[in-house]
Amino acid sequence: MKILVTGGTGYIGSHTVVELQQKGFDVLIADDLSNSFPETVDNIADITGIKPLFEKVDLSDRTATRILFEKYSDIVAVIHFAASKAVGESVKKPLLYYRNNLNSLINVLEMMEKKNIPNIVFSSSCTVYGQPDVLPVSETAPLKKAFSPYGNTKKICEDIIDDTVAASDIQAIKLRYFNPIGAHDSALIGEYPQGVPNNLIPYITQTAAGIRQCVSIYGDDYNTPDGTGVRDYIHVVDLAKAHVIAVERMLGGKCKSPSEVFNLGTGRGYSVLEIIKSFEKVNNIKVNYKIVARREGDIEKVWADTSFANKELGWKAERDLDNMMLTSWQWELKRKK
Ligand code: WQD
Repeated sequence: MKILVTGGTGYIGSHTVVELQQKGFDVLIADDLSNSFPETVDNIADITGIKPLFEKVDLSDRTATRILFEKYSDIVAVIHFAASKAVGESVKKPLLYYRNNLNSLINVLEMMEKKNIPNIVFSSSCTVYGQPDVLPVSETAPLKKAFSPYGNTKKICEDIIDDTVAASDIQAIKLRYFNPIGAHDSALIGEYPQGVPNNLIPYITQTAAGIRQCVSIYGDDYNTPDGTGVRDYIHVVDLAKAHVIAVERMLGGKCKSPSEVFNLGTGRGYSVLEIIKSFEKVNNIKVNYKIVARREGDIEKVWADTSFANKELGWKAERDLDNMMLTSWQWELKRKK
């Protein structure tokens, strides 16, 4: 019995493969390596002692996806991470994002129907909420117009899943991530952005490592305690563990509806300045920063109502901000070596 993890050499995917293997699951990774590295398969094996099966596949290619599903006949569930995910890039190249993110999901769902694979866990994002009217934001909050084509592909993919579930025997669990950060305790896997980082944490760690000059804080005139943007940062290992629980829920027939959705956050928001100060304190290192103008498309503040995931999944984020800052830095130091 295999779990297919698409995008499994990526940041969240690789951490999820580790947790799946450590719970005894047999894992097959399919990834096009457009934003990750083949060495990650070996790094996972160094952590767990088990080398996952790996297939280099462009899942936006219908034929390649069919060939993958015909080669492996014992897939019982799919965790679908494979997608392009840079907010800024999606604004510049919307068609690349719509083609890749939508076609990949459609091709996977089509083969799941053909092969009678009834379980999919989908990687969604809190970006579907836009700037919520009420905080903390719960799963029942109205979804708003996405701030970017990337965010819109997540919303559309949730609809594609709901419509497919209604017309087939497939059941789905959609997981809406808040801001995943941190790295595995081994520092063998972590976030590995290509080029100049879009996200805050890799920019901080690269600045602390001397790779970047200075962190630009995008605006300090928001309606927040210190004026800088507030987000719900969650450790990637906590996020990975939730995916294993979701797979076990489906395999155990415990879902309460054919398509379920859960917020995966900590329920606590931190500002950009709080993050930088925490990183400096925990790692005893100075981080240069300057305040600049707001970034186009940024929302002001968001943090999760996690009560539904806590109750229904029996899952709760356990790692604190200090650990997120510590493991992020340990990972950067390991990469520097
Ligand atoms: C966090 C905060 C910025 C960089 C995006 C996607 C989301 C998910 C995570 C994929 C904000 C500020 C950032 C910098 C800064 N992606 N910031 N200087 O935009 O909350 O979420 O990434 O799944 O779907 O929307 O994450 O890390 O870019 O920004 O001041 O150099 O840090 O303004 O307040 P974001 P982020």
